[in-house]
Amino acid sequence: MTSKPHAAHTLEIVTLDADQVTERLDQFADMLRACVHDGASIGFIEPFPVSEAEAFWRDKIVPALNGGKRTLFAALDQDRVVGTVQLDYDTMPNQAHRGDISKLMVRPDCRRRGIAKLLMASAENRARDLGRTLLTLDTRTGDSAEVLYAALGFETTGVIPDFARDPDSEKLSGTTVMYKRITR
Ligand SMILES: CC(C)(COP(=O)(O)OP(=O)(O)OC[C@H]1O[C@@H](n2cnc3c(N)ncnc32)[C@H](O)[C@@H]1OP(=O)(O)O)[C@@H](O)C(=O)NCCC(=O)NCCS
Repeated sequence: MTSKPHAAHTLEIVTLDADQVTERLDQFADMLRACVHDGASIGFIEPFPVSEAEAFWRDKIVPALNGGKRTLFAALDQDRVVGTVQLDYDTMPNQAHRGDISKLMVRPDCRRRGIAKLLMASAENRARDLGRTLLTLDTRTGDSAEVLYAALGFETTGVIPDFARDPDSEKLSGTTVMYKRITR
């Protein structure tokens, strides 16, 4: 856990199923919008209305959770969603050893309290419990997330240039592809 006492007293990492995410749709949408407004490259561009943010969780994530091959972790601070990450293990039969990390985000006002680290540890433990031995992900090149993943033991395989448009400009940024081997 982080050394900062505020987080230590109030924060919990939980898994939420499809119904629980639906119940908290407003909190997930608000967090996603806050991250995009803050410049995060997590799939969306400005303008990013609340309707689009809600539709993402409702139409993409909730059905995927219902599919039973994905786990969503949430960081709750006094019952408010302040961070999340997903472990996707809906892999092809020849990749049954692999899991994919996606949509890690922490509310801008809650950063540097170790929340992402806790979320990633939970996702990694779940992958281990499922017998997955390889984690994969990609992240915008040069972002703080790249530093975080490297600190957590992820290796860089390379950069795909011009992978995605930045949320607030026409600029195309590269993505860094990373992986981590985990043991059971
Ligand atoms: C990346 C992100 C999830 C990190 O969340 P966080 O809760 O602030 O991260 P943590 O507090 O757990 O940080 C863990 C470590 O990551 C690194 N790190 C995190 N943010 C950093 C930053 N802004 N600059 C440099 N290093 C950073 C540090 O090594 C940090 O350890 P330290 O605080 O002991 O130095 C958050 O900045 C975020 O939501 N960004 C926008 C969304 C995004 O880019 N997600 C990644 C999608 S692939």
